[in-house]
Amino acid sequence: MNMDIIRAAGHILEQGGLVAFPTETVYGLGANALDEEAARKTYAAKGRPSDNPLIVHIADLKDLYPIAGKVPQKAVTLAEKFWPGPLTMIFDKSGLVPHGTTGGLETVAVRMPDDAAALALIRAAGGYVSAPSANTSGRPSPTTAGHVLDDLDGRIDMILDGGPVHIGVESTIVDMTVDPPMILRPGAVTKEMLEETVGEVAVDHTILAADSKTPPKAPGMKYRHYAPRAEMTVVEGPLERVVDKISELSAAREEEGHRTGIIATRETMHRYSGKNVKCIGTREDESTVAANLYAILRDFDDDGTEFIYSEAFASDGIGSAVMNRLLKAAGHHVINV
Ligand code: TXA
Ligand code: MG
Repeated sequence: MNMDIIRAAGHILEQGGLVAFPTETVYGLGANALDEEAARKTYAAKGRPSDNPLIVHIADLKDLYPIAGKVPQKAVTLAEKFWPGPLTMIFDKSGLVPHGTTGGLETVAVRMPDDAAALALIRAAGGYVSAPSANTSGRPSPTTAGHVLDDLDGRIDMILDGGPVHIGVESTIVDMTVDPPMILRPGAVTKEMLEETVGEVAVDHTILAADSKTPPKAPGMKYRHYAPRAEMTVVEGPLERVVDKISELSAAREEEGHRTGIIATRETMHRYSGKNVKCIGTREDESTVAANLYAILRDFDDDGTEFIYSEAFASDGIGSAVMNRLLKAAGHHVINV
């Protein structure tokens, strides 16, 4: 990306403005993380509850120390291995970070994104850029600049267009203020990858649990997030039976005069009939499913789809991030066949 544009964007952030930018996970809505007023603007633009803390994005490991109260050795090990990359770590915050940015918490979430334009922007803006996903609160996260425009046109100062993102689901969040460290949100850096690096890692059990009575430890995970406008159902079980059940449910709704959508995979695509079937990727490589998930949910919204039926996915590796987002989008509405 052109350096003049990055410098202009950095200037907007320094002045307290809002700039959306690409990262490898999803597009972020950037603001100066050390400016309380900029955080307020971020919440207003997204229509987001202000008790939902923002992630501070940095471009250099040395910049972690001024904002974190204490940096455990395991965090340094993880940073050296996975930064820049789709890993967010939570630390006790220092006095430098305003409560506006952390949603009133005494902790701060920090990540170093793996995207050249993002890193250049963070440096141009002075080193600390808060960035939630650049969607209207409650809508699926944006994986293209067009998605950002659809949600936030007229509410933000600039969008840097870096093309479609690579990963497509938000970063893994790990709480480093506890030992063993605890995963609060699954992402492309998996539990297996973390454990290979620092040993035992715990998981916030609300992540895949169907009962939503226990509040998740990451405040944002409690909202019905990542949601399409349609009512969504996830069907899990042996693939043959899943296909039959989805076909049956969809046909019944169509008969009632409703518009339905089906989320299928390369392996099952040909087994459904009708025009309302979208291929989300291949089961052989679930990172393809992650990459297409949010764009497909948005496409169905644009088509006026009222009921979406999706196949379930494996819940290991990146599949765990995919299932976490699907279950949220479906409000935990799952049918087991
Ligand atoms: O991949 C990503 O992380 C993207 C890109 C733009 O970097 N950002 C992102 O931000 O997903 P957002 O705001 O949509 O999600 C941040 C999540 C929320 O669930 C929030 O509650 C949680 O991180 N979070 C932030 N700070 C926290 C803290 N101090 N303690 C616990 N959870 C925190
Ligand atoms: Mg978000």
